[in-house]
Parts: sequence; structure tokens; C-alpha cells
Amino acid sequence: AATIAKTAHKENSTLKETAIKLGYLTEEQFNEWAVLDKDVNVKDYGDVSYTVKDIPEVPNMRKYADMAACNLEVSRTVEKVLTDGRLCITLGGDHSIGVGTVDGHIKAKNGNICILWVDAHADLNTNKTSGSGNIHGMPLALLAKELADYWPYLPGMDWQKPILSIRNVAYIALRSVDSYERLIIEKLGITAFGMEDVENHGIHAITEMALSRIDPERKRSIHLSFDIDSLDAIEAPSTGTPVRGGLSLREGIHLVEQIYKTGRLGAMDLVEVNPAIGSAHDLQKTVEAAIHLIQAACGYSRRGLQPHAEATV
Ligand code: ARG
Ligand code: MN
Ligand code: MN
Ligand code: MN
Repeated sequence: AATIAKTAHKENSTLKETAIKLGYLTEEQFNEWAVLDKDVNVKDYGDVSYTVKDIPEVPNMRKYADMAACNLEVSRTVEKVLTDGRLCITLGGDHSIGVGTVDGHIKAKNGNICILWVDAHADLNTNKTSGSGNIHGMPLALLAKELADYWPYLPGMDWQKPILSIRNVAYIALRSVDSYERLIIEKLGITAFGMEDVENHGIHAITEMALSRIDPERKRSIHLSFDIDSLDAIEAPSTGTPVRGGLSLREGIHLVEQIYKTGRLGAMDLVEVNPAIGSAHDLQKTVEAAIHLIQAACGYSRRGLQPHAEATV
């Protein structure tokens, strides 16, 4: 590689030209080898900002007005990123942003999406069943059309129509599910894989099963909502509701690589990384884990990167 780089640098030729000139590969071999490669072109759309005005509070929903106002902007931004033809990666923050990211994805793809919710928790409470009042435990209940009747009128949320069918949602890595959430999962027959399923079948088979349930025809845009607490608390300690006995980072990376390889990953949320929790070392581990997961979503391969055929070295 050093020789290729040096020679190429001298002559300002492309990697392809140099590799052929040095006799490493024929042109056909090179084209075949580099065919899967993609340039990763990253654009930062900035932090989402919002102002709260005239939104009353709602019982047992902490920071309701902020959630409502913020999610409107999150939804608009996600829709914009997707209509720009990009993969949209949203960094949380609280998992309540899933309401806005999924809504924006639904709007950009005319509802033709499916959701993989990778989480220790089901995030399926309403304000009547939640023991904590934390909205991060409620986003899927806000999104699902099957649960629309269980909510009171939600002021400031008129932009968000619950049109998502829970049939297009699958969980992976569950291990801390509240009893009302379990009741709803069973009543509605939601595809839900807990940690024991990962142990029984392995992460690869579970991800495959989840996808074939929520997207049997393999044509939907995939929304990967990745709560960092799906990972074991040893792997990702800097998070608000850590639970032991979770995914290893390797299982998490494998899952994301598998989704990337479908070519249908539309949007990813990476949520619940909280820099205020734990030691500096805890935080470093958690952030490193998050970076590995995001890299996998961008096509980073643990086998090493294939250089772009057109790249000048
Ligand atoms: N089920 C619990 C609750 O409703 C925990 C939810 C945790 N969710 C999360 N995104 N960290 O409060
Ligand atoms: Mn949270
Ligand atoms: Mn969680
Ligand atoms: Mn969550």
C-alpha cells in the first residue's frame, strides 16, 4: 500500500491506474473489487433548535411542551435530509426524539418504512401506564396508530398523525419491559425479540427474522432506532437507564452492518448517550461504542475499507 501511495503521489495518478501499472490487479479485477465501494460524504445539518410557545403541560409527561416543540423541528429536519437523498443519522439525546425522526421518515417516504427498535426497553407506555412520566418511555406508543385511542388530546402535536402500523415495528434486545407494555406487545402481536432470543438464535438470525417480519417484500426504507442501552451496561455505561445482560458491542455492530448491507437503511437514531453520567472512562467507552455503530451504518467494514476507484491517492 505504501508503494502504491508513493508512486501514485509522484505521478498524481489514481489508485486504479497505479494498481494496474504495478501489476497488482488487472483493470477488470480492479473494477470488480471496487464495485461495492461508496464515497462517504457527510453533511452536518446542525443542532435542531426550537422555541416553546403556548403549549400547555400534559399529566404524567415530563417536559411535554419541550418534547412537542422539539419533535416538530426534528421531523422537519429529518424529512429534509431524506429528500436531499441522504441517509439521515440523528444523535440524541432522549429517545423521545424518535417521535420526530420516525415522523419525518414516514413523510419523506410516504409511509413506506419499517422500524427496528433496538433497545433494552419497549418505550411503549402512554401517560396513563408510565410509572416514571419520562417521555423516552413513550415514543412508540405515540407513533402507533393502534394506540391512538389510548391517548388524551395532545396539544401542539397536531402535525404528527399516528399512521404507523405496529406490524411494521420489531424490537431487538428487550430485557426490561413494564407489565402494561408486555400486555400491549402480546395483545397486538408485536414482533419482539428479547435477549433470550438473541442467545437462542444468535444476532444474525434474529436480525434476519425481524426484517422478514416487518418488511417481507424487502422494499421498505428501514428506520433503525438504536438506543445505546440495548448494549450491556458494561459496554455503554453513560446512559440514563442502563440494564445489564445486554448486547455486546460486537453484536450491536454486526446488527448495524447487516442492516447496512440491505441497501435500504434510510434513517438511524443513536440515542440515550448521556455525557453527564459516569466517569470519564465510562463516557469514553460509551462514545466509542456509539462511533463504531455509526461507522457501521455508513458502510465501514471491519475487513478494511475498499478504496474508491476514482480516489486520487
Ligand atoms: N419503561 C421505563 C419507563 O417508562 C423505562 C424507559 C426507558 N427508555 C429509554 N429510552 N431509556 O420509564
Ligand atoms: Mn432519556
Ligand atoms: Mn432504553
Ligand atoms: Mn429507548
